[in-house]
Amino acid sequence: MSPFLLTRTLPVDATDAALRADVLDGLTRQPKTLPPKWFYDAHGSDLFEEITRLAEYYPTRAEREILIARAGDIAAASGARTLIELGSGSSEKTRHLLDALPALHTYVPVDVSESALTGAAQALLAERPGLSVHALIADFTRPLDLPDSPGPRLVAFLGGTLGNLLPRERAEFLSAVRARLVPGDGLLLGTDLVKDEATLVTAYDDAAGVTAAFNKNVLTVVDRELGADFQLDDFAHVAVWDPDNEWIEMRLRARRALTVKIRELDLVVTFEEGEELRTEVSAKFREEGVREELAAAGLRLDQWWTDTEGRFALSLATVD
Ligand code: SAH
Ligand code: TRP
Repeated sequence: MSPFLLTRTLPVDATDAALRADVLDGLTRQPKTLPPKWFYDAHGSDLFEEITRLAEYYPTRAEREILIARAGDIAAASGARTLIELGSGSSEKTRHLLDALPALHTYVPVDVSESALTGAAQALLAERPGLSVHALIADFTRPLDLPDSPGPRLVAFLGGTLGNLLPRERAEFLSAVRARLVPGDGLLLGTDLVKDEATLVTAYDDAAGVTAAFNKNVLTVVDRELGADFQLDDFAHVAVWDPDNEWIEMRLRARRALTVKIRELDLVVTFEEGEELRTEVSAKFREEGVREELAAAGLRLDQWWTDTEGRFALSLATVD
């Protein structure tokens, strides 16, 4: 039996305090916002997995194609003995990488979703006896308490999740990652690329309504955790392309004027008819932008690989 450890660096009450602070801050500002990490309770993680299989949602398939084609190159360039994956979710695509890294000793999946982590770890342990898996329930935007494990280390940040951070958060995040690396370590980064608006919007507004259900799940989380009375039917799922920022914005639009009580915060929030709550941005990238953002954090872009249709990119960066 291979070693498996699940460490919680976010105590349950800290998660609760963070949710309270985020909801209070986000719903009392204008325009209203909520941070995307609260989508991912067990149901949200399941809905996301469903999104990755939708015909409209091309990023997962495009990134998997690159991982399969380049796994050998990544292994040769990194020589990684430890793979740390931030926002690992189901770790489904990561298998291609795990299979290709001959010297791998420890895999450290990091996610806020406990259900995603335990599901991923169970599957991996059954398939890969001998691999040490140290799963971490943690917020990757906060300082991480990483386990001791042999270098070189490769940090993987896949799925285009970097694009869910705002530009300033991205700069802070990349600098913090850089600060954890030493020469010989690397960062493997997946970024979705700028493309025609119809393809992008459809990827975030599928015909079956799975993305709509995922978006609204954040309201279910606030209802359950903070005793709020959001009614999901009062809100419409909206995905719009912002050409100036080159990001998709996901919003929830109030179908009518309404008030919501959030019992545990002693807060009443009013929405005008048509008022929108921003739940997520998903920035799309170009090679030059990725190169510059990495360079600003002290990371050098060594490899840039795209899928054959040029929809998604995987970058390999090393410490400069
Ligand atoms: N890497 C996977 C999942 C991407 S979805 C893929 O490519 O398919 C984004 C993942 O990041 C989810 O599993 C979510 O739970 C996690 N996540 C989102 N915000 C996070 C945060 N602040 N800290 C840690 N994990 C986070
Ligand atoms: N990182 C993913 C992305 O930006 C997350 C995601 C995919 C997502 N589909 C979504 C988030 C729909 C919210 C709604 O592509």
